[in-house]
Amino acid sequence: MAEELNPSTPEEEEQPVKPRKNGLYPDVSEELAANMASGWADTERHDLAPIPQATHTADRRAALSQRFPGERLVVPSGKLKTRSNDTEYPFRASTEYVYLTGDQTEDGVLVLEPTADGHEATVYLLPRSNRENGEFWLSGQGELWVGRRTSLGEAEQLLGLNTKDVRELADALSAATGPVRVVRGHDAGIESALTDKVTAERDEELRVYLSEARAVKDAFEIGELQKACDSTARGFEDVVKVLDRAEATSERYIEGTFFLRARVEGNDVGYGSICAAGPHATTLHWVRNDGQVRSGELLLLDAGVETTTLYTADVTRTLPINGRFTELQRKIYDAVYDAQEAGIAAVKPGAKYRDFHDAAQRVLAERLVEWGLVEGPVERVLELGLQRRWTLHGTGHMLGLDVHDCAAARTEAYVDGTLEPGMCLTVEPGLYFQADDVTVPEEYRGIGVRIEDDILVTEDGNRNLSDSLPRRADEIETWMASLKG
Ligand code: GLY
Ligand code: MN
Ligand code: MN
Repeated sequence: MAEELNPSTPEEEEQPVKPRKNGLYPDVSEELAANMASGWADTERHDLAPIPQATHTADRRAALSQRFPGERLVVPSGKLKTRSNDTEYPFRASTEYVYLTGDQTEDGVLVLEPTADGHEATVYLLPRSNRENGEFWLSGQGELWVGRRTSLGEAEQLLGLNTKDVRELADALSAATGPVRVVRGHDAGIESALTDKVTAERDEELRVYLSEARAVKDAFEIGELQKACDSTARGFEDVVKVLDRAEATSERYIEGTFFLRARVEGNDVGYGSICAAGPHATTLHWVRNDGQVRSGELLLLDAGVETTTLYTADVTRTLPINGRFTELQRKIYDAVYDAQEAGIAAVKPGAKYRDFHDAAQRVLAERLVEWGLVEGPVERVLELGLQRRWTLHGTGHMLGLDVHDCAAARTEAYVDGTLEPGMCLTVEPGLYFQADDVTVPEEYRGIGVRIEDDILVTEDGNRNLSDSLPRRADEIETWMASLKG
């Protein structure tokens, strides 16, 4: 059994904080320092209700506790990452930390401390700024610069967890004994404090567990994924309404328009939006988005709003920029649509995870043979994987807090696994004819089509969380006309 962590209490008398060395502050007179130290109201809240997911995060911690009895488990939120000089990227808390706490604060660390009958969970956080020593206005992390933090007492009310000062955690972890595991990759300081106590193999087991545990979503998560899809649908509508302005500028207009919806209704986009017009649609992850948007070509828009609780949608629609598919565009689109229909139909409890991929690939291979692009029979094409020159990627993936969720799951628990109610996955077949692919007729070259929806496995089949957006070619055209009207 591991010893209890017992961080030393903060020093009674703190040293005055040195001003930022950015030239903004001349010397601080004693009078000013004294003036700034007082005259502030007590804003501590004692009446906060728990966040809606608090019961769910408690259940998840209980399951984690059962899996690793007697071991100290350390799950960091992560640190700010430098963008350039003294500017940072927007912070996004680690998926594992969010899953287990519902909190999104930088520098936070969840510790599950082993006890006689399970674990005691504590979140270590940066407390509110000290007002007496000037930290709150003179330090770069002071609340006057970065905004009011949630106090430790407030965080306890919100998260339903014990809280402590994170500044004592690294030393306490260095001094502690007993088995310990940490989720790596988020907090170098915490990892170095544990460096002679952990092994890569044991830490990986923790990461794998937390990845597999997320495969089946609870009711809160399903609600959030639905919200993400609904916001995403509104973002796609926003884009259709401004296609003329995108034509006058570039794909960036589309990216910016969708981003506005993501920031207003959610936290961010869940991944870099793919705003791929014309031949850019054949580049799977086209995120440069600096190309021309031209009437008569297709726009492949693959984008997802991430909710304020950090669940993301992942939706693709391929739209005729002028509102009408050409005959060839429609033929290719319909093939992908039929493949997606076959894929979605294969999503049900008890089905093999691979079934939806196989079903969609079969339809695409059939069409490619029918069009004379590859020599049949279809069985030969599938056996040799020859359709993949134009289908390129797998037909989907798990979706949740990460766009490619559960990525550390073992093969037997994921791609070789079986679908269960509560799993949520994308079904996203595509056909891509590269601009320089001389094996296809010239008119195919530069056309890329993908259709992607977010599918929840239910007790008796599935539910398409993103079905508020039309998918059939004629429905797409009617929908676009109504929005541009
Ligand atoms: N947006 C990345 C993907 O569809 O997987
Ligand atoms: Mn996807
Ligand atoms: Mn996508």
